[in-house]
Amino acid sequence: MENIVSASVLGCDLSSLGAEALRAEAAGSQWLHFDVMDGLFVNNISLGIPLLSSVSKKTGMYVDTHLMIVDPIRYIEPFADAGSDNITFHVEACDDPQAVIDKIHSLGLSAGISVKPGTPVSEIAPFINKVELVLIMTVEPGFGGQGFIESTLSKISECRDLIKASGREVRLEVDGGINEKTAKLCREAGADTFVSGTYIFHAEDMPAAVRSITG
Ligand code: DX5
Ligand code: ZN
Repeated sequence: MENIVSASVLGCDLSSLGAEALRAEAAGSQWLHFDVMDGLFVNNISLGIPLLSSVSKKTGMYVDTHLMIVDPIRYIEPFADAGSDNITFHVEACDDPQAVIDKIHSLGLSAGISVKPGTPVSEIAPFINKVELVLIMTVEPGFGGQGFIESTLSKISECRDLIKASGREVRLEVDGGINEKTAKLCREAGADTFVSGTYIFHAEDMPAAVRSITG
């Protein structure tokens, strides 16, 4: 599978979100990563539905929505309507992950399931046959600009083995502290989809930064 960069809008100048999305697209980032936080699942509040509706109309990029919210099934439909192509939710945030996956699929979208750094891959293993994407968080969710947690690398390898064993095409995404150096470690561990905010949006040469991630 082709390596892809998903540009995390949390790292951009949010006062110019539309222009920043276009800048990421022109720099070679195929996906736009939209981080949603509710102040409950994580200790921060970020971006919501009206903003996604506006920005998704500005760009042709594939919209990769990351829900860091409790009981995500409540908000699948509004985030689908707002222009998401993939919706990823956290296994820690719901009682019935299969119901969330089914809801996402019923709206014709790609479904992603995610684990925080402290949650074992075994929690999502039963769903690898059901989703199109697995997201291994490489920082504690809640804030951009944090340092990559190296102990998550073994979880990426473990997940890659499970995906191989499934025989399915499932994207293996990493998110948090991704730059040229940490992306290489993640590629070696088996990741193919790289969320990056601070590193690419603050780079002097954004296209070069994007290329340095995909390798
Ligand atoms: C963290 C978010 C990330 C974050 C990535 O909770 O899920 O997507 O914005 O930002 P950087 O690349 O700055 O770590
Ligand atoms: Zn994210």
